[in-house]
Amino acid sequence: MLELGKRLVIGNWKMHLLQQDAVRLASAVELTIENIPLEKVTVGICPSFLSLHAVNTARNEKKLLLGGQDCHGKDEGAFTGNVSAAMLRDAACDFVIVGHSERRLYQHETNAEVQMKAQSAIKYGLHAIICVGETERQRKEGNYLQIVQRQLEESLPPDSTRSNVTISYEPVWAIGTGNNAGSEDISEMHEHIKKILHARIGAEIPRIIYGGSVKPNNALEIMSLPVVDGVLVGGASLDSSAFASIIGIASRM
Ligand code: PGA
Repeated sequence: MLELGKRLVIGNWKMHLLQQDAVRLASAVELTIENIPLEKVTVGICPSFLSLHAVNTARNEKKLLLGGQDCHGKDEGAFTGNVSAAMLRDAACDFVIVGHSERRLYQHETNAEVQMKAQSAIKYGLHAIICVGETERQRKEGNYLQIVQRQLEESLPPDSTRSNVTISYEPVWAIGTGNNAGSEDISEMHEHIKKILHARIGAEIPRIIYGGSVKPNNALEIMSLPVVDGVLVGGASLDSSAFASIIGIASRM
């Protein structure tokens, strides 16, 4: 469970690590979280689909949550190469990332598809982490708030609540570039997202986390922002000591 009230630190391993390496890294993350207080933070990792089983089997306890990097929007069917939310649930996942910009860009996923994915995740008991974020060009053109608003409004399933959905703001220009968004940019967008969620869902709005070049040296500044409920970490989550230090920062705040 992605317990409410806790800060989230999620590692997105993307298309990295063969099974043995995935198990090794997951064990290192488990060791990290065994030695820190977890009252304030929930830690999850998203290995490749093919490593989920091995990582789940190697887990000692279920304190380290498991997530998928994507799921299909339909329950089942003739969709070669895809994985359903039910399959992820069956593989012991607690949550799933949907609408990551790498999928929106390279797989041409639309907001409507992302909404179906999130809806299916919720239906099968997975918490959906819905990613939104503008490209560098959109930011330069100045209409980034409207772009993200549209992504959010069209990607959010009608029955979203704080307990079944988290929003991850991931500016595309900050992902994998080493250039994280600055505090002002993050605050502006998170406030904007908060207002949209408030209008749509009411007072108990979903958590809003940030992703895009989160590293040990910027995690404190980012997570200190009152509008940030956690981080989605790509590159740095593949390095056990970097990820441990981000988790440590989140747990001490
Ligand atoms: P990054 O990736 O931390 O490597 O920038 C973040 C993400 O894609 O979620």
